[in-house]
Amino acid sequence: MSNRTKIMVKIFSRTIRVSAGLFIVLGIAFSRTLPEDGPSSTAEGAYTEAQAKRGERVQRRVCVRCHIPAYYKGGLLDSWTGNTVGALNSQISNTMPEDRPSSLKPQQYADLMAYILMLNGFPAGDTELPSEDAALARIIIERKK
Ligand code: HEC
Repeated sequence: MSNRTKIMVKIFSRTIRVSAGLFIVLGIAFSRTLPEDGPSSTAEGAYTEAQAKRGERVQRRVCVRCHIPAYYKGGLLDSWTGNTVGALNSQISNTMPEDRPSSLKPQQYADLMAYILMLNGFPAGDTELPSEDAALARIIIERKK
């Protein structure tokens, strides 16, 4: 090999190594920025305390004239165990408030769900309950085993 060829080969192989390294670094950086899947069960802390507090304010403003908080406890959640938070959330948002169904924002319904989970003794965590149907449909209503 001539000196010139040797230099070319050296530059070429270094370029390959540097770009491979760059790809790995970019790959790691990209996978870190992807959203986390979040909890898949109400036993894992599927809402935050702050979110439940917001839900409580919606309850006081919109729902309390027909339901006292105790209404949401016990029996209601028990009958939804094994179902998804999404299913219960759709049921509530499609039928409540009774005189104006679906009149709240998706975020407000999610906050109400968080409040209802809190009232029922489900643990809070550090991820808010999402407001999108698809994401809510991945969270199962269940107690810690
Ligand atoms: C105008 C009165 C009224 C308002 C306001 C109202 N509700 Fe209701 N709600 C009802 C009635 C009536 C029922 C049916 C009761 C029954 O069949 O036991 C009901 C039932 C429910 C149920 C039980 C559903 C089930 O499948 O068991 C939930 C949960 C609920 N309401 C949540 C809410 C929430 C949250 C709000 C506030 C956004 C709200 N409601 C506002 C009248 C109202």
